[in-house]
Amino acid sequence: MKPRTIKDNIFWLGAIDWDRRLFDSLIPLPDGTSYNAYLIQGKEKTALLDSVDPAFESTLMTQLAGIESIDFVISHHAEQDHSGTIPAVLSKYPKAKVITNPKCKAMLIDHLHIQDDRFITVDDGQEINLGRYTLRFLYTPWVHWPETMCTYVPESKILFSCDFFGSHLASSDLFVTDTSRVYEAAKRYYAEIMMPFRTTVKKNIDKLQTLEIEIIAPSHGSIYNNPEFILDAYKDWISDMPKNLVVIPYVSMHGSTKKMVEYLVALLTERGIDVQQFELTSTDLGKLAISLVDAATVVLGTPTVHASAHPTALYAAILLNSLRPKLKFVSVIGSYGWGSKIIEEITESMGSLKVELLQPVLCKGYPRQENLDALKNLAETITLKHKETQLLT
Ligand code: FEO
Repeated sequence: MKPRTIKDNIFWLGAIDWDRRLFDSLIPLPDGTSYNAYLIQGKEKTALLDSVDPAFESTLMTQLAGIESIDFVISHHAEQDHSGTIPAVLSKYPKAKVITNPKCKAMLIDHLHIQDDRFITVDDGQEINLGRYTLRFLYTPWVHWPETMCTYVPESKILFSCDFFGSHLASSDLFVTDTSRVYEAAKRYYAEIMMPFRTTVKKNIDKLQTLEIEIIAPSHGSIYNNPEFILDAYKDWISDMPKNLVVIPYVSMHGSTKKMVEYLVALLTERGIDVQQFELTSTDLGKLAISLVDAATVVLGTPTVHASAHPTALYAAILLNSLRPKLKFVSVIGSYGWGSKIIEEITESMGSLKVELLQPVLCKGYPRQENLDALKNLAETITLKHKETQLLT
């Protein structure tokens, strides 16, 4: 794809990765992704903002074929999907300097072995004038790594946000058109990439409130020419208040845990609580992550395998612990044949979460009435907790 014009002398460059289905060998990408770079041609200097994943080096270099000179390569984030092709750009433009912050510089030297004398480091708020356009660099740590920063161009009111506000979505739309599709992709992206840093994300959004922004140009997905759309979505996702939602990830081997899950789902639904149920061996883990953005309670269901929790359930517990959603309550339900330590294992795997553990329910073999009664007690407890926290009226 050729460079595409955003505003006078400001261009989208980059690659659309329609076929990628996994990121970091972990995150499902049902809709692919893109690696957006941007070119800004001032009257005196030209800057390239980020690059592309190394797999698409030839795509970027073809787009740069007609560009005689690049003075600055702005690196917002050292992760290789944006920085990986910077060495090739520096080889093509031997006088170009990489502009970034000191933390990112150190990472780029570690990851890409770029020579020290190719860097110019900038402070938070520092500006560089290209002639016609000014680049103002804003430190925005932890969106996604500690070194991340954004660039604001006041003359065009564009914020180049790199991972911040991005969406893993391959699309031919330069600007967002299908908002419901983008909303889900951006929420998936937030859940998987930004949610663990929710508090810092909030601080960074507060920092951006001082700017007049007409366009947000992220490094994944389409560009927002209605920035309120994504800013409002983020404000909802980062809020401290979860929703009246119970998420139930579970796995079952011979039907006991599944029976317990179905019974609990019916009880919660009758009590006016929203429920999302995910069978872990077949579910898209991105969908589960999306549900965790809003969930107040998680009930993890697992059978016992050799006295331990099912490995798939343990994996979900570790993922939950790593994503650090704003949950308030957690419980575990499951089954065993002769003995089990699943409660200890699951709760230990979620040890970083600041949540209240609600009374777990285990049954030996297939559920009996006493087990169903215990599930009813759990449903009553969840209902009470949601009422006490004013999630349910
Ligand atoms: Fe798109 Fe954190 O890299």
